[in-house]
Amino acid sequence: MQDTARENFTLKELMKKRWSPRGYSDEKVSDKQITELLEAAQWAPSASNAQPWRFVVSRNGDERFNKMIDSLSEWNQRWAKHVTVLILNLAEKKFSFRDEINPTAQYDLGQAVFAMALKAVDLGLVAHQMSGFDHEKVLIDLNIPEGYEAVSMTAFGYLGDDSRLPEDLKKSEKRERVRKPLDELLF
Ligand SMILES: Cc1cc2nc3c(=O)[nH]c(=O)nc-3n(C[C@H](O)[C@H](O)[C@H](O)COP(=O)(O)O)c2cc1C
Repeated sequence: MQDTARENFTLKELMKKRWSPRGYSDEKVSDKQITELLEAAQWAPSASNAQPWRFVVSRNGDERFNKMIDSLSEWNQRWAKHVTVLILNLAEKKFSFRDEINPTAQYDLGQAVFAMALKAVDLGLVAHQMSGFDHEKVLIDLNIPEGYEAVSMTAFGYLGDDSRLPEDLKKSEKRERVRKPLDELLF
C-alpha cells in the first residue's frame, strides 16, 4: 500500500525527499493530482510573465504515451515504459506578444518543471525528468504546432519496487546521491 495520505512537508523536507527513481508501481495517478501538478507549473515565475511552458500529458497505454515512449532513447525506454504518467515539456520559442526570440524560454520552462517535481513529492508521488529522447520526432509524432521546442519529459507516478528494472538500473536505484561541494559552485 502506497503512502497516499497528504502530509504537510516543509520546503526543506520536500527538497530532501525529491529524487529521480526509475522503479514505478502501477498505482494510478488521479486526474486531480495531474491538475495539481499543472497548477504548480502555472504559478512559476517567467521573464515578462511570458509563461512559455506548454505540456502534453499522457497515461500509460494511451496513444500519446506510446508515441512518447517510441521517441525515447532505448536506454530510457527500458524503465520509462512502466511509468504511469509521462508529460512532455515544451517551450514557446518566441514571445507571444512580440516577434522576438524569448532567450529564457527554456529557463522559465525549467522552473515550471521543477515546481511540478516538488509538487509531486507533496502529493506523495515521484518524478523523473529526461532529456534522452528524439526531440524532433516527438514534435512530429504528436503534431505540435510550429514555434515550440520539446525540451524534456517527466515521468510521474507512485514509487514502486525495482523488480521490473534491468540489473544495472536496479543498482543505480540504490546508488548514493552526490552533489558538488558548495565551494565548487562559487566564483
Ligand atoms: C534536464 C534533465 C534531463 C535528464 N535526463 C535524464 C535521462 O534522459 N534519463 C535519466 O534516466 N535521467 C535523466 N535525468 C535525471 C538526472 O540524471 C538526475 O536528476 C540526477 O542524476 C540527479 O539525481 P536526483 O534527481 O535523484 O537528485 C535528467 C534530469 C534533468 C534535470
